[in-house]
Amino acid sequence: MKEYCKSDIPASVIKRLPKYRRHLKNFLGEVDKISSSELSKCTGFSSSQIRQDLSRFGNFGHKGYGYDVQILYDEISDILGIRTKYSLIIIGAGNLGQALFYYYNDREDYMDVAGLFDVNPKIVGLKMKNKEVYDVDYLEEFLKQNSVDIAALCVPKKAAPELYKTLSTSDIKAIWNFTPIDLPETDKVNIRNVHFSDSLLTLVYRINNIE
Ligand code: NAI
Repeated sequence: MKEYCKSDIPASVIKRLPKYRRHLKNFLGEVDKISSSELSKCTGFSSSQIRQDLSRFGNFGHKGYGYDVQILYDEISDILGIRTKYSLIIIGAGNLGQALFYYYNDREDYMDVAGLFDVNPKIVGLKMKNKEVYDVDYLEEFLKQNSVDIAALCVPKKAAPELYKTLSTSDIKAIWNFTPIDLPETDKVNIRNVHFSDSLLTLVYRINNIE
């Protein structure tokens, strides 16, 4: 991999990397090499876009051969920083919080669910697989005692501002916010506001606007 400066990589390129990785993962063990036009078919990005994106990080491809699937997959994983494990907590162990927990716990080797938090006494104390649901009153103390990278916020919107305050004054590095309000980024904390309905509504729009 060639030397590159992280701050020189445009956000639009970083945004495409998880998609390259996801499709390459599907090819692992199936084929050894892949061309930019094959990658183009499954990702929807143009071949020239793919070649341009990947050339920013090094000479992964060989003319007439394409890309080695395993090497490219490993390199993109390195670029994304997922060769190490990250610690995730889930705040709000309701429908969405549990769905995220059952998907990410023990599933992705770069993500470790350190714990879940809730206010509901019927949920607090429950064991989900091997993990306990803690009382949210313990959150501040937990964050002091444990190194947590990301908090997934899956609480009702009225609970979000207070939790945002607690999280943004802790050492946490990122908030994965699923509540309906968009939370602002700070110098210390990265935020991704995720709203499934936004993409669902663009589908609804297309259904109504394509002849
Ligand atoms: P839910 O009612 O099943 O779960 C919410 C959980 O948060 C409950 O267990 C509740 O006890 C807990 N809670 C309430 N206040 C809390 C606090 N201060 N600290 C810790 N836990 C607290 O609701 P559901 O369906 O799981 O949705 C959760 C949130 O995610 C809602 O804000 C909802 O609008 C949002 N949502 C967002 C989606 C998206 O695409 N971004 C998709 C689905 C839901």
